[in-house]
Amino acid sequence: MAFIKYALPLLAAAQAVFAADCGDGDTIRIRSQSDLDKYNTCETLEGDVELDKGLVDAVTINGVQRIKGALTSNGADNITQLSAPSLETIDKTFHLQGLTRLTALDFPEINSVGELDFEAIPILQSLGFTKGITNAGGVSIVNTGLTSLDGISLNSVGRFIITDNTALETVDVNNLKNATNLINFAGNYKDLEISLPNLASGTNLTIRNVSTVSVPSLEKLEGQLGFWGNTFSSLSAPNLTEAGDLVFEDNARLSNISLPALETVNGGFLITRNDELNSIVFPKLATVTGAIDFSGAFDKASLPALKNVRGGFNMQSTGNFSCETFNSWKDNTIHGTYKCEAETDNPTTSDGSSGSSTSSGGSGSDGSDDEDDAAVLTTANVPVMAAAAIFGMLFQYVL
Ligand SMILES: *[C@@H]1O[C@H](CO)[C@@H](O)[C@H](O)[C@H]1NC(C)=O
Ligand SMILES: *[C@@H]1O[C@H](CO)[C@@H](O)[C@H](O)[C@H]1NC(C)=O
Ligand SMILES: *[C@@H]1O[C@H](CO)[C@@H](O)[C@H](O)[C@H]1NC(C)=O
Ligand SMILES: *[C@@H]1O[C@H](CO)[C@@H](O)[C@H](O)[C@H]1NC(C)=O
Ligand SMILES: *[C@@H]1O[C@H](CO)[C@@H](O)[C@H](O)[C@H]1NC(C)=O
Ligand SMILES: *[C@@H]1O[C@H](CO)[C@@H](O)[C@H](O)[C@H]1NC(C)=O
Ligand SMILES: *[C@@H]1O[C@H](CO)[C@@H](O)[C@H](O)[C@H]1NC(C)=O
Repeated sequence: MAFIKYALPLLAAAQAVFAADCGDGDTIRIRSQSDLDKYNTCETLEGDVELDKGLVDAVTINGVQRIKGALTSNGADNITQLSAPSLETIDKTFHLQGLTRLTALDFPEINSVGELDFEAIPILQSLGFTKGITNAGGVSIVNTGLTSLDGISLNSVGRFIITDNTALETVDVNNLKNATNLINFAGNYKDLEISLPNLASGTNLTIRNVSTVSVPSLEKLEGQLGFWGNTFSSLSAPNLTEAGDLVFEDNARLSNISLPALETVNGGFLITRNDELNSIVFPKLATVTGAIDFSGAFDKASLPALKNVRGGFNMQSTGNFSCETFNSWKDNTIHGTYKCEAETDNPTTSDGSSGSSTSSGGSGSDGSDDEDDAAVLTTANVPVMAAAAIFGMLFQYVL
């Protein structure tokens, strides 16, 4: 009995010391460098760490190797440098937002984060993750000054969102093999080159405004594969056999789509307003579970293996291709609405949007019955809806 009498207060005291030193699971709020220095004997901080927005200049998290929670800073626009010389792991989100004067991150040992979520860090040029993050559930990097993603070397990732980084010239995520959520690139530097040499599978891959894309290993996507507003002339995915929706839209210089192994599109297949695309050939494409909707200025369209289109079929071009083969399919291979038109002045998509950025499009005066639909679903709606979905996701992600 006597032992317990003395031991309990001792234990309580020990816990109190522990709590004061390294957190007790509650959020640790840091208002100054000296607040931080109180923790520099802690290998592990128990709980979330929040860097107050009043922090200034260089901020250093000394000693700590692991944060068993999130590391967050919102609106700390006077922090110029953020270092954590020993930090290896952040269990939850590493979230930095609105650090408008941050020029340097120095996290030489960091290799694992729950999620990485950076937004509005406009003059940060490099990540400063010397060892490199090899483990992250998701990555979102929006509106930073980064010129590369050196420091991120993941084998697998959930969401991977890289948008509005106007200095980002190259992305080479060499190790990435598998993504289990959306990969999205949009609005980065106009000549962004993306190399995903080992990416074999993923869910959705959406790419806007880039100058080259290399996906030599890509075999299968569960969801959408889409390319909008890019400047590359050629897109090749030699090993891709299957994708969800497939979209090529508004790629002004695209003249060659090479998908020699593509067999199945589990959704719709849209090709429109790629004015330099003269020839459309998918030698192995057999099944499209949605609609085929190709419009533009092509002189050749060849789908020799096509067996089953569960949705409609719309093929319209200013060019002189042959509808002959397709006409013979309309009652068996194609299950939805059928339309094929060569040498038309105003090719349109099946929803009536203009199929070519040089023609006058769905609002032309040739009396075609596509015109009415044009007002309902305009060309602009499609990317806007996609963007809204993405920003919606980002929002959830931030909250
Ligand atoms: C940053 O410093 C400026 C100038 O001292 C000050 O006006 C501003 O409020 C500071 N920002 C924050 C978030 O405290
Ligand atoms: C991709 O990663 C997920 C989650 O780690 C896993 O379940 C899936 O089997 C992987 N797919 C491939 C093709 O490696
Ligand atoms: C493409 O697939 C073939 C056959 O499965 C394989 O041998 C080759 O390594 C793949 N290419 C790449 C770049 O992954
Ligand atoms: C992913 O792709 C599927 C199928 O194409 C689509 O329905 C879904 O909206 C896409 N999700 C995102 C976040 O892009
Ligand atoms: C980026 O792509 C979008 C299509 O998603 C396009 O509307 C926009 O004009 C492109 N921006 C630039 C700068 O090319
Ligand atoms: C299209 O690209 C593929 C793959 O890069 C290449 O083999 C083929 O020769 C190109 N076709 C044309 C017409 O340039
Ligand atoms: C369109 O192609 C067909 C078949 O190759 C050819 O007979 C016809 O003259 C072409 N029309 C034009 C306007 O070039």
